[in-house]
Amino acid sequence: MIRIGRQLGRYFALVSMTSVLLITVLSNIGMNIFFTMYLRDSQKSEDIAIADYATELLHEDGLLDETDLMSIEHYAFTMSAEVIMEDSEGNVIMSTREPSDVTGEPGRSDYMDLEKFEYKEYSYGSPETGKGSIVIGRPRSIFSASPDRQFLITINLIYLAAAGISLAIGFFLRSRVSGMFLDPIYSIQKNARYIEEGNFRGVMDVETKTIELDELSRSINNMALRLEQQERLRKRLTSDIAHELRTPLSTVNSHLEAFIDGVWEPTPERLTLLQDEIRRLTNLIKDLGDLSYMESGEISLAMKEISLSGLIANVVENFEPLFVSDGKNITTDIEEGIITKGDSDRLNQVFINIIANSLKYTNTGGHVAVALKIEGESAVVTVSDNGIGICSDDIPFVFERFYRSDRSRSRETGGKGIGLTISKALVEAHKGIIGIESTDGKGTTVKISLPAWKG
Ligand SMILES: Nc1ncnc2c1ncn2[C@@H]1O[C@H](COP(=O)(O)OP(=O)(O)O)[C@@H](O)[C@H]1O
Ligand SMILES: [Mg+2]
Repeated sequence: MIRIGRQLGRYFALVSMTSVLLITVLSNIGMNIFFTMYLRDSQKSEDIAIADYATELLHEDGLLDETDLMSIEHYAFTMSAEVIMEDSEGNVIMSTREPSDVTGEPGRSDYMDLEKFEYKEYSYGSPETGKGSIVIGRPRSIFSASPDRQFLITINLIYLAAAGISLAIGFFLRSRVSGMFLDPIYSIQKNARYIEEGNFRGVMDVETKTIELDELSRSINNMALRLEQQERLRKRLTSDIAHELRTPLSTVNSHLEAFIDGVWEPTPERLTLLQDEIRRLTNLIKDLGDLSYMESGEISLAMKEISLSGLIANVVENFEPLFVSDGKNITTDIEEGIITKGDSDRLNQVFINIIANSLKYTNTGGHVAVALKIEGESAVVTVSDNGIGICSDDIPFVFERFYRSDRSRSRETGGKGIGLTISKALVEAHKGIIGIESTDGKGTTVKISLPAWKG
């Protein structure tokens, strides 16, 4: 494992070094090819100039005297050329290889590696004076001549300097990149650690200039918010469940004590009350069991073709006495003959939950309207009430398990905040959609769409 900063530094160095190296190698090769061609051409004209010079110096008798030979030797020397001259009879009259008879200078073979020379033969003189031959040698590699080598060394030194500069630029860029990407990443990492330690509040806002990091940072901060929410719900739930369990148990307990002590007679009314308390406990436990089953994600449904119109009418009918006794009313607008494929018990459970909420969260004199109609390939059920409504801050959370708005809690309605969670899981298991719209203080509409058709 290696830190991103160091890794980036390595990559920057690698990229700049490889590119400079590549340029150096390629331009050296290029120079070798083109420079050689250029030099060969110019050397050839120099060679011809040497031969012409020898022709020019030639006396009428076809001979060259010592001064002529010395001039030719010097001329060749200024062009860094090797010269061997033969007269028209084939006798070597001058060679820069051997110590010079003319000048007494040592031969070039004493200080030059002649193997590295390449020789070409030219002729000098004219038919009248007789023709001699002049062999001119040139270094095989252009860069063996020292001014040329110097040129190459200079160029390569420039490349070396370029390598240094590009490395420096690389390091500078690395520090810029680190400022742009790494600093925010480190801050996000710090936030994640902070959350990992169980702190959900006071997570820093990270300033980033990149979309992806901004999204990452935002989702980590949202995660903290959600975790905090869940943590709060969990704590609330524990106290709620303790309360839910304690109340019926202490009622049952005090009644039983009174029966045992003979203070109270176990009359049918009192026994019925105890039974109600026990039923409340049983319901609570059933709801919790349901929730954990739904959340396991493996709901098994007994799917059958059922009349959705009939099912909803039936649920409403069963609710009617409760509405009447609470001084509220419920009306229906149900399109007949709508069929869906589903588990009738589970769908019943959904509509009971939704209508029970409307009943619970509507004041006396309130009104609930249940409608069912077909829209395209879906059946749309709406349950609207003119009850207490939900404030907009709470709406996003009502489908969360154990979520109850503060207002509904203060109503002492005894809900546990799992009815909507279960309903949503069931509707989705039927490939349906559930949504809720509400205006605080005005009322709430729950809308459920299920795949359906007219029978
Ligand atoms: N018809 C409604 N009117 C007002 N608030 C509602 C309605 N339906 C649901 N809610 C809000 O959504 C919360 C979650 O509903 P639910 O999961 O059924 O839990 P419970 O009914 O046990 O409180 C409720 O506590 C309440 O705050
Ligand atoms: Mg409910």
